[in-house]
Amino acid sequence: MASISDIDKAAGALRAGGLVAFPTETVYGLGANAEDPTAVSRIFQAKGRPPSHPLIVHIAGAEHLCDWVQDVPATARLLAECFWPGPLTLILRRGRRVPLEATGGLETVAVRVPDHPVALAMLSAFGGGVTAPSANRFGQVSPTTANDVRVELGEAVDFVLDGGPCEVGVESTIVDVTGDAPSILRPGGVTREDLEAVLGYRLAVPSTSPVRVPGQHPSHYAPQARVVLVEPEKVLTEAELAQELGHQVGVFLPPSFTDASVKAHAVVALPVSLAAYARGLYGFLRELDQQGCDLIIASLPAEEGLGCAIANRLRRAAGPRPSSVPGLQEH
Ligand code: TXA
Ligand code: MG
Repeated sequence: MASISDIDKAAGALRAGGLVAFPTETVYGLGANAEDPTAVSRIFQAKGRPPSHPLIVHIAGAEHLCDWVQDVPATARLLAECFWPGPLTLILRRGRRVPLEATGGLETVAVRVPDHPVALAMLSAFGGGVTAPSANRFGQVSPTTANDVRVELGEAVDFVLDGGPCEVGVESTIVDVTGDAPSILRPGGVTREDLEAVLGYRLAVPSTSPVRVPGQHPSHYAPQARVVLVEPEKVLTEAELAQELGHQVGVFLPPSFTDASVKAHAVVALPVSLAAYARGLYGFLRELDQQGCDLIIASLPAEEGLGCAIANRLRRAAGPRPSSVPGLQEH
C-alpha cells in the first residue's frame, strides 16, 4: 500500500512532468499533469494510444470543477453532488486550463473525482488536475491491480502508486451534460437506474452498436485470447466443440450452471452478484490469458444495473480485431 512518502514522490513526479500510475475505485489510471502538454503527450506514447482520443481530468473535489470547465449547468452540479467522489465522469465545455492535447482537440472535457483514498491524497498533494486514461496498452484489458500496471506498462511509467485491488472493477460511467438532456456515453460503475433516481426522469439506453464515443473502437478491453459471445444455454456445448476443434478454451461459466465437468482448458465460475462480477471481470480475462487460453466463451449478463457495463465491456472485448480470423459463429 502507498505510504505518505509515496504520495509525495508521486506528486513530485507529476510536477516534474512524469507519468504516475495510481489506483482509483474503478481501474488504475496513468496520470500526468493535465496542464503540461508535453507530459500529456507522454501518456499517448506510453499507451500507444492515438492522440485524438480524449482523456479524463481527475480532480480532488467537486468544488474545483469550475476551474476546469467553462460553466457548470444545474444538472452537472446535481450529479457531481450526488455521485462524487465516485465512478461518474461528466463531459462539460472545456475551460482554458485544459490544453487541447488532453481533450484530443475537442472543445469539451471529461472530468471526475475518483473515490479512492490514495488517488484523493495524490490529487490533494499535487494540487492540480491529473489527466489519466486507464493504465493499459491501447485496446487491452484495463488494470485493476498495481501489478497489472507493471506488467502492462513496465518502464514506461515513472512511478506506480499501489492502492490494492480496485473495488468497482469497471470504468466510470460517462455522462455528457453539454446538451439539452444528459446522455450516457459509456455505461460504468454508476448505473442508469442510479442516475435516473437522482434526475427524476428516464435516460436513453446507451447505444450498443455504432461507435459514438471518440476513442471507443469496436475492439477494446480485449485479452490476447479471442472472445466469443454465445447464448447462456450454449456456453457448455460451444466450449466443448471449440475444445474438440483444438482450441485452448476458457469458459465464463454463468452462475446458473453448477456443472463442474466442463470440457474446457480453464473455467471461471462467475459470481452471482453483479458487483463481484464487475470487480473481477478484467482479472478473469487476464487469468484466462495467463493460463494459455486462445479462445474465451462467454455470454452476456442481463442488461440492468451493473450488467450494462459488464455487457458493454464483453461486447467490445469480442469486437472485431484487425487480425481476427473467421471461425465460430459469433452472437
Ligand atoms: O474509470 C475511469 O473512467 C478510468 C479511471 C482511470 O478514471 N479512466 C478511463 O479512461 O477509463 P479512458 O481514457 O480509458 O477512457 C476515457 C473515455 C474514452 O472512451 C474517451 O473517449 C472518453 O472517456 N472521453 C474523454 N473525453 C471525452 C469528451 N470530451 N467527449 C466524449 N468522450 C470523452
Ligand atoms: Mg481505457
